[in-house]
Amino acid sequence: MMTKKASVLAALACAGSVGTGVALAETTVTDDQGRTEVIYDVGILHPMPGAQLTYDYCTVCHSEMIIAQQGQTRDGWDEILVWMVDEMGMGEIDETDREMILDYLATYYSPDRPHFPQN
Ligand code: HEC
Repeated sequence: MMTKKASVLAALACAGSVGTGVALAETTVTDDQGRTEVIYDVGILHPMPGAQLTYDYCTVCHSEMIIAQQGQTRDGWDEILVWMVDEMGMGEIDETDREMILDYLATYYSPDRPHFPQN
């Protein structure tokens, strides 16, 4: 896993090299609903659309590991997001982003825990 600093540098490097033909450490992922997202660093999160958004919003304060270790319904995740904003000092999440994050978490970090960290 890259450190925060390394991931910021990687993001800058990517932004700086657009159009120069330099190989980017970016991947475009698509889900079965046809949604796509360009991901460049999602840590251990399952690399599907919504992962980068979730990683960027949520790892400001803590590792993505505590997210991956949770298995929640959409309502459960909704409550966690409300809790992060109301009690943990997280800023309000843009509504479109919030829906994408909730869809992502409810799909890949559901109570069935299909992507529970293996080690
Ligand atoms: C402003 C800082 C901040 C941000 C941003 C943030 N969190 Fe948290 N989060 C915390 C803190 C602090 C805790 C530890 C709370 C505790 O255990 O008392 C925590 C704990 C958690 C937990 C563990 C809850 C448990 O039962 O142990 C989950 C899951 C979680 N956050 C999910 C998220 C998700 C998903 C996002 C992004 C949408 C997010 N957090 C963004 C501060 C933040």
